[in-house]
Amino acid sequence: MQVVRLAHETDFDGWREAARRLRTGGVAPETALWTIDGAGDLFAEAMPAAPAAAPAFTVPKGFVELADRVILHRSDERFALLYRLLWRLQGEPNLLRILSDPDVVKARDLAKNVSRAAHKMKAFVRFRLVIDPAEPETYVAWFEPAHRVTEATAPFFARRFANVRFSILTPDACAHWDTKGLTFTPGADPADAPREDTLEDYWRTYYASIFNPARLKVAAMQKEMPKRYWRNLPEAGLIPELIARAEARTQEMVGQAASEPTRRVVRSALRASRDAPFDGQAPTTLEEVAAGVQVCRRCDLWRDATQGVPGEGPARARLMFVGEQPGDQEDLAGRPFVGPAGQMFDRALAEAGVPRAQTFVTNAVKHFKHELRGKRRLHKTPGTGEVTACRWWLDAERRIVRPRVIVALGATAGLAVFGRPTPIGQFRQQSLQLSDQAQGVVTYHPSYLLRLPDPAAKARAYALFVEDLRFAWGLAA
Ligand code: URA
Repeated sequence: MQVVRLAHETDFDGWREAARRLRTGGVAPETALWTIDGAGDLFAEAMPAAPAAAPAFTVPKGFVELADRVILHRSDERFALLYRLLWRLQGEPNLLRILSDPDVVKARDLAKNVSRAAHKMKAFVRFRLVIDPAEPETYVAWFEPAHRVTEATAPFFARRFANVRFSILTPDACAHWDTKGLTFTPGADPADAPREDTLEDYWRTYYASIFNPARLKVAAMQKEMPKRYWRNLPEAGLIPELIARAEARTQEMVGQAASEPTRRVVRSALRASRDAPFDGQAPTTLEEVAAGVQVCRRCDLWRDATQGVPGEGPARARLMFVGEQPGDQEDLAGRPFVGPAGQMFDRALAEAGVPRAQTFVTNAVKHFKHELRGKRRLHKTPGTGEVTACRWWLDAERRIVRPRVIVALGATAGLAVFGRPTPIGQFRQQSLQLSDQAQGVVTYHPSYLLRLPDPAAKARAYALFVEDLRFAWGLAA
């Protein structure tokens, strides 16, 4: 038996090096025993040195990505399973494509569990402010991930809270961000985590306000927010009471005027499908678009955004508006045009007599592109590559809604809708034929109106904007 001692539970480099040496040394998987340093067979043999003229070998890129995930799983089998796959790849180079193979099934399953644990960590880490007069303001979270995803997930929090010092303590490892770099220390004890603070109230209020009793499905909710995470979630204390009162609250709501389910509720219902890998199939419903946008990796903008923001409105709207990309508030709310530009847009729509609820409002790019300036997230114009990558979603929305008229708000939307630059001064008030049977109209972006410094110029542009909205509504009628 060949015993391999790895330095720690997530020692991917150690596993790679050992696996390379075992494979080139011809050590079959069933004769290799993988242990963490100090826990192994006392009679372990020394590792074989790689043969002097060991032939180099390569493995499919997909294998490295798979192994990188699988290694974070808590399963004791993971190292052996990966080495067995590596060994078999010598004679079966297409092994990873055989989705019925038990080793492949197992590895994909472990990788999926790890991805889900990382996703839950992003959703359920709750920071508490720690005040120590001798130290700068720091937020600390205690979290117990289902798998060893702390190091892999910490960069997400560093990007998201770039200007805030924080530590995430977990039993496996602790991540510390000092606004410049990430460092890691060994796992901690729950007693190291701070207790209550004012942020708890914030979370409880937020959760109670988004909880919709009429849509309560206890099993689905527990699947999405498994009980193992409850003890570290401030809002979890509310759950039993909210569940108990759900029936009575539902009756109250039924008695009230009907309202559209919020985008947030729809999203949470779709969250289960989020974890499914995006398979490149064109979406055929707006729900699929909404779910797909959340897992989209067609460009890098997802990394720093809170969430993707799909379009919203009736699936059979005659008029579609396409903006540029979500702004700061849209990114947080998950809905298009709800911030300052959205308010300007709403005012102009009302003046033009266009009911927004009968239109479909979306953006050329579905994630918020921005740069950090101090604590502020400043809008950055998306590039042609991002617009092109995101056309997958806009085109899907166009195919599904099939509007009669599509209005491009501003130059970026013009590029996405018409596929070429469409100068507003030259083309406004014209109906331009689009390939999908729709008529295209181009007008100003509401943010442009907001930015105009001269009040007279602003009033003139605003009047033209209202005129263009009225023109488009007339065309769609
Ligand atoms: N600007 C846009 O283009 N879209 C939004 O959703 C908000 C601001």
